[in-house]
Amino acid sequence: MAQEQMDNRQSKGDEYCMLSQSGYSDKAIKYFQDRENMGVIENADQVTDLTGPCGDTMKISLNIDEGTIKDARIQVFGCPGAVASGCALVSLAKGKGLEDAGNIDLDALYKELEKMPDQKVHCARLAIKTLQKALKEYSRKNINSW
Ligand code: FES
Repeated sequence: MAQEQMDNRQSKGDEYCMLSQSGYSDKAIKYFQDRENMGVIENADQVTDLTGPCGDTMKISLNIDEGTIKDARIQVFGCPGAVASGCALVSLAKGKGLEDAGNIDLDALYKELEKMPDQKVHCARLAIKTLQKALKEYSRKNINSW
């Protein structure tokens, strides 16, 4: 195995131990480490960002077709809780109708993440608020085309 791959595996292992000891579930750590759904959709139908009181920022991009979220990606400039929450939220939102996506609440997101440290609740809340803001902005822009 190449040295770089071994170093990478080692650092992921160290990261896993630290996050696990701080109270993140295996599933939340996987969301954080895999970073699936991270990024930006080119020519997205909606791009919205939101900065939380802690100063961390999330930017969500959505592809919407006939009232359904066909694709979603998120960029997170923030803590592991923000990355895990953002990635989990996007995974929950994909394939949902706009109303259902807007109804994803803290309970649903926590069910998906299984467990995060108590002081990370606001990170999950920031992810939800970012999606809700994006959906509101999208509906406002498209109110006349429905
Ligand atoms: Fe700001 Fe997590 S500390 S979103």
